Amino acid sequence: MREHHDHHGNHPGSDHVLDDHAHDDIAPDEHAHDEHAHDEHAQDGTADAALAELLDLDGEVLRSYWTDVLTWVRRAATSTGRGRILDLGAGSGVGTIALAQRFDGAEVVAVDSSQEMLRRIRVKALDLGLAPRVRTVRADLNVGWPAIDPIDVTWASMSLHHLTDPDRVLRDVFTATRPGGLMAVAEMAEPLRFLPHDLGIGRPGLEARCLDGLRNDHAHSLPDLGSEWSPRLETAGFAVLSERTITIERNPPHQPATARYAQRWLRRLRSGLMHRLADDDVKTLAILIDGDGPESLQQRDDLQLRGVRTVTLARRP
Ligand SMILES: C[S@@+](CC[C@H](N)C(=O)[O-])C[C@H]1O[C@@H](n2cnc3c(N)ncnc32)[C@H](O)[C@@H]1O
Repeated sequence: MREHHDHHGNHPGSDHVLDDHAHDDIAPDEHAHDEHAHDEHAQDGTADAALAELLDLDGEVLRSYWTDVLTWVRRAATSTGRGRILDLGAGSGVGTIALAQRFDGAEVVAVDSSQEMLRRIRVKALDLGLAPRVRTVRADLNVGWPAIDPIDVTWASMSLHHLTDPDRVLRDVFTATRPGGLMAVAEMAEPLRFLPHDLGIGRPGLEARCLDGLRNDHAHSLPDLGSEWSPRLETAGFAVLSERTITIERNPPHQPATARYAQRWLRRLRSGLMHRLADDDVKTLAILIDGDGPESLQQRDDLQLRGVRTVTLARRP
């Protein structure tokens, strides 16, 4: 893992509230209960389960990145007592659980629009004996801000770029944060890549072609992906303390979790790009993803892990 610090840098990283578990103390949104919404939830649940698996693999395969950045955030937080930590767009809870483990005694509130993600977080918290300190709040942040102030630390990892108006949400976080409190934003500067240029099968450059297709899609669907959050945090009122650019670059020994991550990630890419991939690339992907022969992801020993993430740390003055 290589790292660059910018000029800020002293390194050592419907209604707005939807229904959720009884553990939440936020009023349920009645619109979430109509029948149509129910069908959509079932479909979303399947898609979210697949995404949750990817997010969990990110936490497992990139454990050293997660440990590094969350320890950095923990050290920057002045208060150690019974504060409130917010995991914004918490996903499967990799951050939520790691924060609950680092902020001993604090309440950690995981906010997400997905029921399935929040269910998984509750299971993890229960298994680890953290349930009394982990609260899940189902909320669509595009619609409004849930009543969860005051907050001491907010962690928003790969989530702001999903929102229709992240600047409004940053202002909401600012208002909900105690003076002196922290906000940390993790962003994907470059997506993870797993494959060597020449796989020994198919046309070289398969992964680069897939990622070009993804970039084209994201230019429309996720215009804030890869955004620089420092100026936007400052516009919201925060003072930026530091920004870290972390380059993930590893040639891992053959590890089942890395192979599984590559397989699930490429499967997701393929399903989004299927109609635009050339026939020979579709065939090569099938050998990699669906096969179990020597050229499959499961068996290969030439996977490489590369990607770039930024983490911006800011304080409410
Ligand atoms: C890429 S995942 C990141 C999850 C987690 N922070 C991580 O880094 O592992 C983005 C998460 O944001 C959530 N999300 C997307 N749009 C949202 C919205 N409008 N309100 C609340 N959560 C949202 C998704 O459900 C998903 O769990």
